[in-house]
Amino acid sequence: MFNFIKIITEGKSFKLEQVSLPYGRADLGRSLSKQTLDYHYGKLYKTYVERFNNREGDADFNEAGAKLHSIYFSQFRAPTGQNKPEGASLEFINKHFGSFDKFKEEFEKTAMSIQGSGWVYLASDGKIKTIANHEIKKDIVLLIDWWEHAWALDYQADKKKYLENQWKIINWNFINSQL
Ligand SMILES: [Fe+2]
Repeated sequence: MFNFIKIITEGKSFKLEQVSLPYGRADLGRSLSKQTLDYHYGKLYKTYVERFNNREGDADFNEAGAKLHSIYFSQFRAPTGQNKPEGASLEFINKHFGSFDKFKEEFEKTAMSIQGSGWVYLASDGKIKTIANHEIKKDIVLLIDWWEHAWALDYQADKKKYLENQWKIINWNFINSQL
């Protein structure tokens, strides 16, 4: 399970910190451009963390936004030609979906059913689930940001292409550690 970075201050209050990227902002090639990472990681995600820490706005919303982005940005690596699940994630996907292709098909179908802003994720019970806006979930194995800001700069309205290109940069070792 993902360990969130929390700094306990006094009593029950705590602060959040942005996770550092395990890759360079220009490393994800066409899948997620440097421009998107500068904006999405460098500004939007940072804002959730800062607003939570400064007690601005809705604390639950900002905490959930910060934590979901912490998982999301930790899942990638530079693209490789044949990027496929291996080890525990391959077994998990085969068990619940039959094949990686079938899994991708189901994932896309669920993602495309989202109305408005949200997230789509593979859950630890082998189901593909969605999150409206932001909400903390404890069963996330693999998480894709479906808010417009995640894809619009690189893909305009082509969300299917955005998702297709995310499979090229998923770090399956990280996903294995989530199982
Ligand atoms: Fe986002």
